[in-house]
Amino acid sequence: MANTIISFKNVIKKYDDEAVLKNVSFDIEEGRFYTLLGPSGCGKTTILRIIAGFTEATEGDIDLEGQRVNDVPANKRQVNTVFQDYALFPHMNVFDNVAFGLKIKKLSKEDIRKKVKEALRMVQLPGYEDREINEMSGGQRQRVAIARAIVNEPKILLLDEPLSALDLKLRTDMQYELRELQKRLGITFIFVTHDQEEALAMSDEIFVMNKGKIVQSGTPVDIYDEPINHFVADFVGESNIVSGEMIEDNLVKFVGKEFECVDSGMRPNEPVEIVLRPEDLTMTKPENGKLVVTVNTQLFRGVHYEIMGVDEDGNEWMVHSTRKAKEGSKIGLYFEPEDIHVMRFNETEEEFDARLESYDD
Ligand SMILES: Nc1ncnc2c1ncn2[C@@H]1O[C@H](COP(=O)(O)OP(=O)(O)OP(=O)(O)O)[C@@H](O)[C@H]1O
Ligand SMILES: [Mg+2]
Repeated sequence: MANTIISFKNVIKKYDDEAVLKNVSFDIEEGRFYTLLGPSGCGKTTILRIIAGFTEATEGDIDLEGQRVNDVPANKRQVNTVFQDYALFPHMNVFDNVAFGLKIKKLSKEDIRKKVKEALRMVQLPGYEDREINEMSGGQRQRVAIARAIVNEPKILLLDEPLSALDLKLRTDMQYELRELQKRLGITFIFVTHDQEEALAMSDEIFVMNKGKIVQSGTPVDIYDEPINHFVADFVGESNIVSGEMIEDNLVKFVGKEFECVDSGMRPNEPVEIVLRPEDLTMTKPENGKLVVTVNTQLFRGVHYEIMGVDEDGNEWMVHSTRKAKEGSKIGLYFEPEDIHVMRFNETEEEFDARLESYDD
């Protein structure tokens, strides 16, 4: 079993009287890649700042490697941060930026030179030592910022939206590079993003945040396949979400029809919300469909067509298909019972996990 390297216990952070972190608890295991995912202002940077020691929690405990560190200053923690704006020293060249932390630690000139060289090699900037920061592209600066952090061989690396300034192609390349780097170094990474695709692609574990709380944590597949509520279903991936009611175990009603499903453990006739992912809907003839929609619009997305249709109750449905549909035509939508994901209102993560586990028995 891996070691817990960071632990938050009922952490509250208030600015003035407003709580921006509301009772946040989690454990982070050594050597894994974690992502904090959530909309702007939900508290992601605040969590990183508390881990790094730049901000104090108002209430609660923070442990690093089993020791309470609430009162331990930032420079005594084995944590390095790549900030949202990189925060490089613009008047220094690449070497001096990367070497900064090592000089403070008073390593020998020879050791510093070797370590900087190695760090630049890892971020694929070999030989860039003498380059000035203002002579580098955004993507290169970002990699210098990462080199400056990993050169200190921290146990924990915090990365605050490090890829947000990059174009799509470089961003995807850097996602691979970072993931490789993390595996190679075995450092615990905590990566912040509000980009759900990035979170799904990179992480061992995702914490989905909203309004100062972690609303769901799990592997990318868990979060995508079994979102706990409307917010997560909507924020992570494309979703069709409609309201309905749970008639009984394994039978749910929406859009005026009853459908077999695999969910259970709700009250009879409990109001629920239903998620169907666009890629789980198959286009078929109207008479073979479980639902019938009229096609409104379709967009070509490269890999698939994104087709928008509307059912007889006026609900919109998004379908991903490699086949085209005809605007204005009626199409059937087919799906299997396991494609239906039923969500309860106000279910806690503990209740949700317990209910999901009972399906496996
Ligand atoms: N020093 C501060 N004083 C007052 N309020 C602050 C301070 N720092 C952050 N906040 C507030 O705390 C909340 C959380 O901020 P935080 O920077 O953690 O969000 P975030 O999830 O990182 O957002 P973004 O994706 O925009 O970077 C926000 O409402 C923000 O306005
Ligand atoms: Mg932030």
